[in-house]
Amino acid sequence: MKAKELRQKYLEFFESKGHTIIPSASLIPENDPTVLFTTAGMHPLVPYLMGEKHPGGTRLVDAQKAIRTTDIEEVGDTTHHTFFEMMGNWSLGDYFKKESLEWSWEFLTSLEWLGLDPKRLAVSVFEGDEVAPFDEEAYRIWKEIFEKHGIPEARIAKLDKKANWWGPAGETGPCGPDSEIFYWVGPEDEIPQSFNDDNDLWVEVWNNVFMEFNKTENGSFEKLTQQNVDTGLGLERVTAVMQGLDDNYKTELWINLITKIEELSGKKYGQSEEITKALRVVADHIKASTFIIGDDKGVTPSNTDQGYIVRRLIRRAIRFGKQLGITKDLWLKEIALIVIEDYKDVYPELERNKDFILGQLDKEEIQFSKTLEKGLKELEKGTDPFVLFTTYGFPIEMTQELAEEKGIKIDAEDFKNKMKEHQEKSRTAAAGKFASGLADHSEETTRLHTAAHLLLSALQKVLGPEVIQKGSNITAERLRFDFAWEEKLSDEQKAEVERLVNEAIEQKIPVDCKEMPIEEAKAQGASGIFGDKYGDRVKVYKIGDFSHELCSGPHVENTGDLGRFKITKEQSSSAGVRRIKAVLEK
Ligand code: SER
Repeated sequence: MKAKELRQKYLEFFESKGHTIIPSASLIPENDPTVLFTTAGMHPLVPYLMGEKHPGGTRLVDAQKAIRTTDIEEVGDTTHHTFFEMMGNWSLGDYFKKESLEWSWEFLTSLEWLGLDPKRLAVSVFEGDEVAPFDEEAYRIWKEIFEKHGIPEARIAKLDKKANWWGPAGETGPCGPDSEIFYWVGPEDEIPQSFNDDNDLWVEVWNNVFMEFNKTENGSFEKLTQQNVDTGLGLERVTAVMQGLDDNYKTELWINLITKIEELSGKKYGQSEEITKALRVVADHIKASTFIIGDDKGVTPSNTDQGYIVRRLIRRAIRFGKQLGITKDLWLKEIALIVIEDYKDVYPELERNKDFILGQLDKEEIQFSKTLEKGLKELEKGTDPFVLFTTYGFPIEMTQELAEEKGIKIDAEDFKNKMKEHQEKSRTAAAGKFASGLADHSEETTRLHTAAHLLLSALQKVLGPEVIQKGSNITAERLRFDFAWEEKLSDEQKAEVERLVNEAIEQKIPVDCKEMPIEEAKAQGASGIFGDKYGDRVKVYKIGDFSHELCSGPHVENTGDLGRFKITKEQSSSAGVRRIKAVLEK
């Protein structure tokens, strides 16, 4: 079974169980300062897990694009990827453990669907702790299923919080005990009677999370107002399982990329461990970069936030490419073209943003080769390797790798200390970011969220209706708003935008929310990113005649609640994108 069919079957199966198919959300989280990327299927759905109403109803199913960069260094083995797709089915206060686990079982084993051999399956459930008790219910459901199929009860493992608890995605938010399903990929006559999570031949294929808790800022756990289900099935991994492969990179999700890199480098997959690893890293990093740059939010390589991650991915890909012996200039885009070709049916934004993707890859490749030359000279001259990072934008890890490679002696102790200090600083910054997540529906963020709608409308009135939003990020303190525009705003333009927003605030306009089919919202001329994360039905927020926008909320009830709007900064964010920072003064 090909990945394409697996993706389709998953969506169809849950559609047949009353779920609404919703499109993948952006890779760049909306209004969520806690993380740089969408790291799991549940991420874009946090507001709904917390109780907001989703226009698609209470049963949803999707294939979600995701990026995890925490284990960038681990990419190179058979299973780690920075970009991956997560299939998920969702109950928003609808069904709970019984339906969820029974449907997982049916989808995996029924001959009509995946038809996996039940004898090769094992599961785990949460053993319990001071927050939540042993998951007796999940255990009992599995026991019944296993008895019916003659599978030993010892294949149901009770595991601790480290293994069987999922979330929250940031520091706070929805989370809960989970139940994982494993498939034995070893020889048939060696299937163990019991499940053992140390054995790599048991491959996790699916996770069912029973999200009924909310982790709060003080670290305590509260019951959510509703019992949710969040499940995740890793597309790459299950595709490999379905094809009887022990290496995700041998599936069609990777093979065209690997073949192209082989062609460019003259090296062969499997030739040596080092070469295989380098081929995987290059394929993975360029795929992830293509998806990040190709997201409609338009991230470009830079030295901060998402831009820094793309820069790091691209530069690592170039370095591993060099190691493989690729000498051609501007070769990254040749791989990116294959990513676009392979995925454009499922993710049409890649095709839409093709020129942008290729252009950005070329630009970064050119810039990096200059940087590399200069940096190497500096390193040989004895420049502090740490300065290379700050001055030449060398990713820290690369400076270290380069120094090692060139046999250049660096003061390891000094370097380590500076690194540590740097990491501590970025961790503090990250912790600061975690302090108020999406889960934090505090009054401040809600007010700023409504202000963002007013700001977009005001920009459209002052600059022209063609202004579109590229992203936003809200903390309890401020609003950050990115929009497509080429030039710096004049003082007059800024003042006029502020005046219009404040006028709308002074008029105390009620904020009205209506649900409607997406076509109707379009016909009405509502702004917003259509076809992105919303399904067929959408929520449209209307603020008098002033603003009319697609959004998941939450919002204040009346603009009179906002206080005084003030732009604190207006600057360039990336090519063709301006960024405004603004606050609401009480
Ligand atoms: N949130 C869970 C995970 O990412 C299940 O989707 O594994």
